[in-house]
Amino acid sequence: MKLTNIVVFGGSGFVGSAIVARLVERGCRVLVPARRRDKAKHLILLPTCEVVDADIHDDATLDSVLAGRDAAINLVGILHGSQADFTRAHAELPRRIAAACARAGVKRLVHMSALGADPNGPSMYQRSKGAGEAAVRASGLAWTILQPSVIFGAGDQFLNMFAKLARVAPVLPIAGADVKFQPIWVEDVAAAFVNALDNPATVDQSYELGGPKVYTLRELVRFAAAAAGHPRPVVNMPAGLARVQARLMELAPGDPLMSRDNLDSMQRDNITSTQPFAPAPELGIALSPMEAEAPLYLADIRARDRYGAYRARTRR
Ligand SMILES: NC(=O)c1ccc[n+]([C@@H]2O[C@H](COP(=O)([O-])OP(=O)(O)OC[C@H]3O[C@@H](n4cnc5c(N)ncnc54)[C@H](OP(=O)(O)O)[C@@H]3O)[C@@H](O)[C@H]2O)c1
Repeated sequence: MKLTNIVVFGGSGFVGSAIVARLVERGCRVLVPARRRDKAKHLILLPTCEVVDADIHDDATLDSVLAGRDAAINLVGILHGSQADFTRAHAELPRRIAAACARAGVKRLVHMSALGADPNGPSMYQRSKGAGEAAVRASGLAWTILQPSVIFGAGDQFLNMFAKLARVAPVLPIAGADVKFQPIWVEDVAAAFVNALDNPATVDQSYELGGPKVYTLRELVRFAAAAAGHPRPVVNMPAGLARVQARLMELAPGDPLMSRDNLDSMQRDNITSTQPFAPAPELGIALSPMEAEAPLYLADIRARDRYGAYRARTRR
């Protein structure tokens, strides 16, 4: 059956926006329940996408947004927070979404987890993602779980962050410089979600996702800095110092660049269990190399820098 009426939880975010755009292109009607509808203006412009203000931690709200839908996609996730925040977003919410799907007769759920999700993992992020996976697997729904490594693309919080740091710092001290990652392009992840949705071969399956190549964090930071026009030396920060720095960042207002929990996640490499990696054929994706896609938006940072300098000079 073609599924055409979809709720996307977490649809307002970086990955969600790419998935929603693809669903709309495919002719689906998409509902995005958001904490702040005004933060999802870019989605409101899409012809068959509706964005509503909703508290998705409320069961009655879940029942109402799921009524009459064909399928749900859950992308809600956080990178920083307390144990209670991680449990609420990554473990309790998937369980409640799954239960609400069952009540509403929505049989299909595609769930975003992460590579390294593990109830016994070293970080709160990984443990809570592992608990969320367990809840989805136990739901009795037709579920699919996707577990990507770090995701890059215009608007990412990863390569862009290093590119921005390189603009202001002559040397980049990085914690866990030798940890390995396997970045995957956001459009490849979005395609995997949309293709999985109504492919029965993906039902009750979990899929690791990674890009075509493995890099150390040091290589990724060097790459981002150079692509943004600010090549910089990268040095490994001693573990003790990295922890103190992360603690200070957590105390500063706003989202920290790095938290102690992020450092805990980096105790393990974030790469797929088989190498070289080939995505499962039923996901219908070909992997795009980072070197082809990332410079296109990282170079924008460079262009914005240049315009900033022009503006400063001309006072406009
Ligand atoms: N980006 C990566 O490298 C990566 C890698 C592996 C897995 N993932 C997973 O992919 C998913 C999407 O990530 P992303 O990069 O797109 O993150 P993002 O841009 O921060 O988007 C997260 C989404 O979740 C929503 N959200 C967060 N906390 C919420 C809460 N307590 N209640 C309701 N909604 C909440 C956000 O809503 P607001 O717009 O209201 O904030 C947003 O729509 C997450 O589950 C993440 O763990 C990401």
